Amino acid sequence: SENKLQLVHSHIRAFPDFPKEGILFRDICPILKDPAALTAVTDLFEEHVRQNHKQVELIVGLDARGFLFGPLLAQRLGVGFVLIRKKGKLPGATASVAYDLEYGKAEAEVQEDSVAPRQKVLLIDDLLATGGTMYAAIQLMKKQQADILGCMVVIELKELNGVDKLKPHSVFSLVQY
Ligand code: PRP
Repeated sequence: SENKLQLVHSHIRAFPDFPKEGILFRDICPILKDPAALTAVTDLFEEHVRQNHKQVELIVGLDARGFLFGPLLAQRLGVGFVLIRKKGKLPGATASVAYDLEYGKAEAEVQEDSVAPRQKVLLIDDLLATGGTMYAAIQLMKKQQADILGCMVVIELKELNGVDKLKPHSVFSLVQY
């Protein structure tokens, strides 16, 4: 698994001043382009879940890059995948929660019938920065009365302290900067 982590690490690129000045953007696209690296990501998440969250019933992915890794993991585990989307994208009855971005506000939504009370869920995204997006996802799962087992990301940006914001929920990350 040390080799797998190295493979994942070597497939993350950094772009200075994107999407705006002062931001160092961590780009996971090279992982998607290399089947060995994508398999390594899925393997590492699968190992973590099998060791720590055997009772999981649903993987819940965050818009947009949580959708790249979540379904692969869910299929490996033999559980379903649910999408949390930005406002206005999901048909039918939805639950929504507003959250703050660096500039302005955003809203996240989930279909009301996608998660049942007490279902055991794990949340997944590509990256944890301030934790604002993942925090909103946790609020949505609480509205659905889900049993939140934890959060998983490929990349954690430690200096932004997102992990503190999500306490007492656990955060598992493959790569830390
Ligand atoms: C990025 C990333 C996470 C979020 C993390 O998404 O993919 O979802 O930011 O930031 P936070 O921890 O400070 O909330 P982005 O805003 O780029 O949206 P996108 O996934 O639709 O591109």
